[in-house]
Amino acid sequence: MHIPEISSNALQDKVILVTGAGDGIGREAALHYARHGASVILLGRTVKKLEAVYDEIQAAGGPEPAIVPLDMKGATKAHYQGMCATIMDQFGRLDGLLNNAGILGVLSPFAHIDHDSWNDVMQINVTAQFMLTQALLPALQAAPKASVVFTSSGVGRKGRAFWGPYSVSKFATEGLAQVMADEYEGSSLRVNVINPGATRTTMRSRAYPAEDVNKLATPADLMPLYLYLMSDDSAELNGESLDAQG
Ligand SMILES: NC(=O)c1ccc[n+]([C@@H]2O[C@H](COP(=O)([O-])OP(=O)(O)OC[C@H]3O[C@@H](n4cnc5c(N)ncnc54)[C@H](OP(=O)(O)O)[C@@H]3O)[C@@H](O)[C@H]2O)c1
Repeated sequence: MHIPEISSNALQDKVILVTGAGDGIGREAALHYARHGASVILLGRTVKKLEAVYDEIQAAGGPEPAIVPLDMKGATKAHYQGMCATIMDQFGRLDGLLNNAGILGVLSPFAHIDHDSWNDVMQINVTAQFMLTQALLPALQAAPKASVVFTSSGVGRKGRAFWGPYSVSKFATEGLAQVMADEYEGSSLRVNVINPGATRTTMRSRAYPAEDVNKLATPADLMPLYLYLMSDDSAELNGESLDAQG
């Protein structure tokens, strides 16, 4: 798909929450959203990283971001509902939600998949995204046009040996997005999925420690799709699973 370029102020006055905003793809997305005018809510588990993103947005003259330190492994429904109440108090709505945070877990043969590691991957990559998105519905539905974006992977469309829990979690993510897109079709809320493709981040280097990182796309290379899906230019798009690298 050809990805249309959005204008430099296309996200002006939008409020966008990014999970895993302190590092990798989420960090880059948060910076790009702010650069295009959005007030960004930075959610992540390492406060120092979130503060660095906050400082970078402020230094560039972007709208003041908000920081939400949260470990999605242990977060409860009450945490997410409290977050929704705070967003409604401060902003009155949420225009965009990028569900990006994720972990790789342990790559291992099926016979040796560790149950605790399986549960952690499912909790962070699937259950936490479901709980967060469900709790934020009132804020998303208060926006005139809201965009929810989930993050999948190539192994979320075709299973791959040794990638057990991560691969299954991304299939579940695709499924969750399809269910939501079908339910909210025709409403102000749209739901789509991005497959980033191989990208130069900490997660990728954990999966492929020996590869030449210079051959990989950078998070910045992916941003046209991340920006497009958060802008009103993509308002008609719902239920799509798109590749950020074409
Ligand atoms: N890189 C690739 O090649 C690739 C390919 C396909 C799909 N993806 C997907 O793209 C998304 C971003 O990946 P990435 O490569 O940017 O990974 P990354 O560099 O490892 O960043 C992941 C982010 O998620 C956050 N996170 C992890 N566990 C969390 C938790 N329990 N609570 C809150 N935040 C948590 C991390 O926070 P900390 O920094 O504090 O740990 C980090 O900010 C993931 O969903 C991944 O599955 C990546």
